[in-house]
Formats: sequence, structure tokens, C-alpha cells
Amino acid sequence: MRIYDIIMKKRDGYALDKEEIEFFVNGFTKGDIPDYQISALLMAIYFSGMNEEETLNLTMAMANSGDRLDLSGIKGIKVDKHSTGGVGDKTSLVLGPMVAALDVPVAKMSGRGLGHTGGTIDKLESIPGFSTVLPEQKFIDNVNKYKIALVGQTANLAPADKKLYALRDVTATVESIPLIAVSIMSKKIASNADKILIDIKLGSGALIKTREDAERLSEIMIKIGNAYKREVRTVITNMEAPLGNNIGNSLEVLEAINILDGKEQNYLSELCILLSSKLISMAKGVEEQTAKMMVLDAISTKAALNKFYELVKRQGGDISSLKTSDDIVEIRSVTSGEIKEINAYDIGILARNLGAGRLSKEDEIDHSVGIVLEKSVGDKVNIGDILCKLYVNKKSTYTVKEVLDSFVIE
Ligand code: URA
Repeated sequence: MRIYDIIMKKRDGYALDKEEIEFFVNGFTKGDIPDYQISALLMAIYFSGMNEEETLNLTMAMANSGDRLDLSGIKGIKVDKHSTGGVGDKTSLVLGPMVAALDVPVAKMSGRGLGHTGGTIDKLESIPGFSTVLPEQKFIDNVNKYKIALVGQTANLAPADKKLYALRDVTATVESIPLIAVSIMSKKIASNADKILIDIKLGSGALIKTREDAERLSEIMIKIGNAYKREVRTVITNMEAPLGNNIGNSLEVLEAINILDGKEQNYLSELCILLSSKLISMAKGVEEQTAKMMVLDAISTKAALNKFYELVKRQGGDISSLKTSDDIVEIRSVTSGEIKEINAYDIGILARNLGAGRLSKEDEIDHSVGIVLEKSVGDKVNIGDILCKLYVNKKSTYTVKEVLDSFVIE
């Protein structure tokens, strides 16, 4: 078998068979097939797409490219949630403790941020001392004892996805619906949760820009789940504006705490309640409305908030030492009117340029910087009103004009 022939076959619009898919996945993972040939193949997949059988075979080949997480030592039905990525998306920080507080085991592996989107692991690492690496047995023990452990994805979990994702990121092939479905589902299958909830983000700040694509992605992921005996539910949610008011690692942890404490009622808190209710409904087999009552109860009794503090403590973190930058710049409106849009993509890039995210995997991030939005879409503003506050450091790069341009005021 030759990779050249596989590239040509896909370029000409034919479907690849199981052996051809396994050949390129294994060859690339081992380093036998060079990046330039896989880049060409990815572009051919981007244009020619993949049929259902190809997506199933690619998912399994990628899930089998490394270790599988053995969760058999954890009692009960394990649920997991995955978001396709967005700006200010701190829902995992809220959902994990919320669900664990209701006795559903959460054994979660999360990722770091790249590009304009943030990652749960970076957010947790803004808590001094918090360890996102646990020995496997401790990870399992913590889930059994405290119902929750949250760690970074191990290097050998679906390594084919890690390598392919990095290549897609630099070859303009991230936005392929079958490739996104396969990337997410291969990791979820390798990490062995029984039931998976996928939050498909739709809008200017998301990978998926049209409802049609979001629905197609949902359909493919559900089919992959069915084929491999995992219950998959999906929800398509808005990512036109940043999610919540805080963007940047420590700032997002603080906002997650406020949501768990029941102190904020907004789109973010509603989304967290919706996603938690779906997870509880999946795990306990109850109606979503019943699950919602349980979730609201876990907020009002502070059980969910206390579970978050327990998670932090059990993984070595000291929440009282969490820092946000002291260098704060207020950005004031130069027009009056109604806010029609706060561009999520622009805000994501701004957060990265302030130092909250990375341009390349090697970049160091500053957990204390970021943005706090003081206004939301639909708010009326006058000249001189504060639109947002920037938490900056000496290396932050931004212009006031570019910040103002992310707000559309009419
Ligand atoms: N998230 C993933 O894990 N993979 C993708 O391809 C897109 C979003």
C-alpha cells in the first residue's frame, strides 16, 4: 500500500476502505508518513468529504492509535461533555462540580486553549498549586471518593488526533465537518465515558458558522456514538458573543465560582443549568425537568460550589491565592446607542494578545490577564460608559480602536 495512491484516490472523490484508513493513521502516528503527504490528504478530505463508513473507520483507527483510559474501576455511569470550542466557555468548570454534587461520577480529561479559544486545563492551572496531572490510580480513586477528577489529556490518548489536529491547524483544514466529528469522537471513545453530551457551538466565535453544518455535525456524531455503543446527545448553542462576561483564565474561574454560587442569572448560567440537567438526565435516566430541579437544588444548597472547592483541594490547589492582574485599563464608549454585537472572535484574539492564550503550543500564558465585559448585547450605552475592562501585563498588545471595533453599537 502506498500513501501516494491513497491521496490520489481521495483527491478524485472515492471512498477509502478500512485498511487504507488504518494504514495512513498508523503510519502518521508512528512518524513513517511525513506531514506534507498527510497535509495533502487532509485537504483532499476537506474537499471530497467522507461517507459514513469512512468516518466510523477513521474514528476507530484514531481511538486505537494510543492507550484507552480504563474507567472500569469507577462505579456508576460515567458521563462526559465536550464543547466544540468557543470564547469565554467555562462551562466545564461549572458542570463537573454540579454533576458530581449530584453523585454522578465525572472522570474528565480536558484540553488546553489554542488560537482564539481557551481551554479548561489552562483555566484550572490559574489556581496556584492545582495539579492537572494525576497518576492514573489517584485519578480513579478521586472519582470514586469525591465523584470528580479533572486532568489534562494524557499524551498517549488518541495520539493520532493530537498530530492530525496540529496539522489541520496550520493547513486550513480544521473546518471539515467529518474531521471535527472524528476528532472529538475518537477522544471520547478512547477516554471511555458511557454517555457523552456534545455542545456544538454555532456562530462567529465558533468553528461552525452555519446551522446546517451544526446539524450535520450533530448527526454524524450521534451515528458514531450509536455504532460504538455510546449514548451521544448534542445541543447546538450560540457563540455569536463571548460566553459570560469574563474572558481569560483566572477571571473565568472567578466567574464559574459565581455561577456555582447562584450569584449570576444570565445566558451563561442558563446554559450551565441546561447542560447539567441533560447530563443528569442521561446518567440517572430521569426526565430533564426533574434533573433541572435537582441541579437548581445543588446550586441553592451550595452543594455544587462546595464540590468545586473540594475538587480544587483534592488536586492541590489554593483558591485563596488566585490572582488577577492589578493593571486594569477601562475602555469607554465613544458613541451612544444600543449594543448590537460583541464579536466573539475579536474578543478571543484580544484575550490572546493580552497574554491569556497562545499562538503556538510552546507559548507561556499569563493566567492573570483577560477581559471583563461590562455591557452585554442589547444594552444601551452613552458616550463615556465603560464597555469593558482589560486586565493587562507589560507584554500585552492591543489598541483601543481594535477593542472598540469589537463592539457594534447602533
Ligand atoms: N474540538 C476537537 O477536539 N476537535 C476538532 O476538530 C474541533 C474541536
